[in-house]
Amino acid sequence: MSSAAMSLARLPLVTLSRTGKSFPVNQGEVILDAALRQEIWLPHACRGGTCGSCKATIVAGSVTYDEGAPLRTRQAALRSEAYLCCAKAVGDVTFDVAELPARPIGAMYRRPARIASIAKPSRDVAIVTLKPPPNAAIQPSNESSALLTLCICRI
Ligand code: FES
Repeated sequence: MSSAAMSLARLPLVTLSRTGKSFPVNQGEVILDAALRQEIWLPHACRGGTCGSCKATIVAGSVTYDEGAPLRTRQAALRSEAYLCCAKAVGDVTFDVAELPARPIGAMYRRPARIASIAKPSRDVAIVTLKPPPNAAIQPSNESSALLTLCICRI
């Protein structure tokens, strides 16, 4: 299919079976990201495929995951379940999942990461460099770097 034809192709639709609400998902977009972008509040926490709070039942259709997604998220599809923070729609798909009434306020996000290094430039300061997994929702803004750096200061 040419790129012009692909741009004219209809985007996959995600439908929530409890409310009948539907929303489109962009090519390659994670379903949870598409929902939140359109102010459809679905349960979530870590956004990295580890906590299970975004798990939904697949009523119709199917999903796929990137190779870097945690194994249990990829295995969930075999049980007609989906981790919406990592799942991508394969055509139209319908889920049984509870929609939140409003955007969660003050929600804390736990994200997996590996400590790449810890430097202590002084007694009261530590610089921690983290390496998130390739499918993490938060990525460094610099494309050439796969690291996030935190500076922790004692006050
Ligand atoms: S939000 Fe934690 S597994 Fe999806």
